[in-house]
Amino acid sequence: MCGIIGIVSREEDVVPRVVDGLKRLEYRGYDSVGVAVVSAGSLVVRKSAGKLADVVRKAGISRLSGGICIGHTRWATHGPPIDVNAHPHVDCSGSIAVVHNGVIRNFSSLREQLESRGHTIRSDTDTELIAHLLEEGLREGLSPLGSMARALSMVTGSYAIAVLFSSDPGRIYFARMHSPLILGLGEGSNAVASDVTALLDVARRVVPLNDGELGWISATEVALYRLGGNGELVPISPAELASRIKVIEWTPESASKAGYPHFMIKEIYEQPQALLETYNGSVEDPSLARSARLLVDARRVYVVGAGTSYHAGLVFSYMAATLARVPVYPVIASEHPYMGNAIGEGDVVIAVSQSGETYDTLEAVRDYKKRGARVIGVINVVYSALDRESDISLYTRAGPEIGVAATKTFLSQVMLLELLATFMAEHSGALTGSEALEYRRKLGKAPRITQDSIAASDPVARFLGERGSYKSVYVLGRGLGSSIAKEASLKLKEIAYMHAEAYPAGESKHGPIALVEKGFPVFMVATSDSPHISGNAMEMSARGAEVVVTKPADLSLEIPRGIKVIDLPPSQGFLPYEPFILTPFYQLLSYYSAVAKGYDPDKPRNLAKTVTVE
Ligand code: G6P
Repeated sequence: MCGIIGIVSREEDVVPRVVDGLKRLEYRGYDSVGVAVVSAGSLVVRKSAGKLADVVRKAGISRLSGGICIGHTRWATHGPPIDVNAHPHVDCSGSIAVVHNGVIRNFSSLREQLESRGHTIRSDTDTELIAHLLEEGLREGLSPLGSMARALSMVTGSYAIAVLFSSDPGRIYFARMHSPLILGLGEGSNAVASDVTALLDVARRVVPLNDGELGWISATEVALYRLGGNGELVPISPAELASRIKVIEWTPESASKAGYPHFMIKEIYEQPQALLETYNGSVEDPSLARSARLLVDARRVYVVGAGTSYHAGLVFSYMAATLARVPVYPVIASEHPYMGNAIGEGDVVIAVSQSGETYDTLEAVRDYKKRGARVIGVINVVYSALDRESDISLYTRAGPEIGVAATKTFLSQVMLLELLATFMAEHSGALTGSEALEYRRKLGKAPRITQDSIAASDPVARFLGERGSYKSVYVLGRGLGSSIAKEASLKLKEIAYMHAEAYPAGESKHGPIALVEKGFPVFMVATSDSPHISGNAMEMSARGAEVVVTKPADLSLEIPRGIKVIDLPPSQGFLPYEPFILTPFYQLLSYYSAVAKGYDPDKPRNLAKTVTVE
């Protein structure tokens, strides 16, 4: 999803720093790149569709210099990914440059109005309209800040913007509404960016902005305001600003490839560490016990998320039911609007989101709150919107995840949610205090088991991935295995562009089996709660399917000859280990399949890491 960065410095060194920041934003997914600098009093814009390294070279970005620069990675929403639609966008006079993440809803009417007032709109984007609105403000005699307030009170929708005015060459102006934006406070330079990752080389001290805030940064100063209902500017005091400063613990190294060919494989291999950090940071966190009480005493419990985070929610819903005997409704974030009427006082929702910025998840959370529900956030990025909007925040500690496909954040979410389920079980009385403690003690071994699983899975997944013959596959599971199968099939789709369909194995005979013919690949995610999956494996095999059963080594299944079995580390019958045992195999299979086909596993086509639009 679009990424923004702007840096203003006392030195003339910011263009390469902005390019580095854009590199760190690449993981969000993008199709075009651009920058604007003010050089010798005039605005210079360089932009194009394409990958960052290519655009930097072909658009001559590396030849630019200056002490103030804004940059952008675009993920197309309004208009195709072509040069003219790349950001920054400028006004008619070419003296105001705007980069934007978000969607302006009243785009069509604004465009009509601006054209009728004589503006020439060159692109298909909603962003360009902001530049023209700012131009009108200046023409009316307003200051740059006044013109920002005027323009923003005319637009509806979501935006994080950074703006350069050539008439005010020492300041970057910015504003935020429903799209993430963070200020970075450095030494002799200040910055603004879509996320903390982009700021790792620039600043350790950050201020996450709230909706409705705007202002400017210079190399040494910051001015922050709130936009009032009538477009008036309400200053935010330096004391309030200072109280909102957070110190970032992530390091630039944690966001680099550290010798691995891709972020995805690095992040798969980082899972044991991510799980250990998450376990250590959560097992005695009183917020888990507090959340558990809230959940057990709730009228109804929902878990909401998108993509992989939704799948972690499915694992949670299984664990809450089986371990704590608490029913949990899993909800896909974008589907929430169609079932919101059922929500009310006394309900609790767990919102799961790696980024804490996914639009659909945030919108669902806002609606739950409006209807009187309490919100528990499960978040990897601290100070993200979900972190700020949750009643209780629980943190996975996976570190920055750069690969677009979620890997280490998924298992970290599972770790945290399984721990939470043990606290719920204790509170509901399904487990005694000492039984729950024993569960948690055992979960402390999951990082080690994950490491063993990665080691066992890698050669087999590489062999199967490199064979490269899969186009269309089923991934079947029962019980806990059916949630893991969903995540496995998502990875195969996202990264290896394989048509992979997950189905509860028992349901597969009610339709999917019709497609099965000789050689059709069927993967089975066998978990110890559902040994009768072997019957489904036989049904598939009897129709000629090429069946591969993945299972913990100590799960004994009656499997006839001819069915391939991949034995992964044993689970000792402890079901909560099994997501950690089975998931890495499918992550690695997706990774090696993608690499064998020449795809970039870190930046799959059409996908974005953080989806900040509806
Ligand atoms: C995008 C990403 C997925 C991710 C989903 C939810 O689709 O490509 O990898 O699972 O968003 O993201 P979140 O940050 O809310 O976990």
